[in-house]
Amino acid sequence: MKISTIAVIMAMSEEAEPFIRAHGLQRADSVFDRQLPMDVFLGKVHGLDVSLVVCGKDPRFGVDSVGTQPATLSTYLAIERFKPDLLINAGTAGGFQAKGAEIGDVYVGSGCIRFHDRRIPLPGFEAYGVGSYPMPEFHQFAATLGLKRGIVSTGNSLDMAPEDLAMIQDNEGEVKEMEAAAIAWVADLYQVPLVALKSITDLVDSGRPTHEEFLENLSVASEALQAKLTAAIDYCACTDLSLA
Ligand code: ADE
Repeated sequence: MKISTIAVIMAMSEEAEPFIRAHGLQRADSVFDRQLPMDVFLGKVHGLDVSLVVCGKDPRFGVDSVGTQPATLSTYLAIERFKPDLLINAGTAGGFQAKGAEIGDVYVGSGCIRFHDRRIPLPGFEAYGVGSYPMPEFHQFAATLGLKRGIVSTGNSLDMAPEDLAMIQDNEGEVKEMEAAAIAWVADLYQVPLVALKSITDLVDSGRPTHEEFLENLSVASEALQAKLTAAIDYCACTDLSLA
């Protein structure tokens, strides 16, 4: 599979800032309808055309538009406008120390991507709620880039209710975050391949409040994310990702 254009979807401006700076990406104004909060940055990375869509500040609350709805809309807009050969969702996530995660590890979502907060016990709807969007195993890709591999599990809360934990366990989830399964849904509809890169800011089983760990480690994790995102794009420029 020849890749020449990549759309990167990121939820938070602080997650995106090191990547924008490292590659001198330029802000592009008026790409989408002016009512929309998404920010767009364009540039070349290792010779590939990269369009970065950051979900932007919520106009009502003035904070980054994290979570599944803005991620869904950003992905749709990116596909419509940029017709990418590949989508990369890059962001931060919670990990499990019981499964060997450490702060600053970067995971590639492998196997599948699932939801852990869509519990719909009606015939046929249970599987729809969980999603399970298939992803490659990425053995070679992960080994070359020094990434961990794991099932990404998505929900709309930073904290972890007992019901969510039970579902993450059922999902065999190793990486807990707030956008990837929504992005995978759109990628699947349009049949655009997706890579999810997730940098660990907090260990959800550490006993510490997640929001404290998240804020403490956001900057370190975002730098680690930019390094691996750059390496992933380099890999795509040189190697056939379908063999990953
Ligand atoms: N993003 C970073 N850490 C997270 C967590 N623990 N849960 C959901 N999203 C996150």
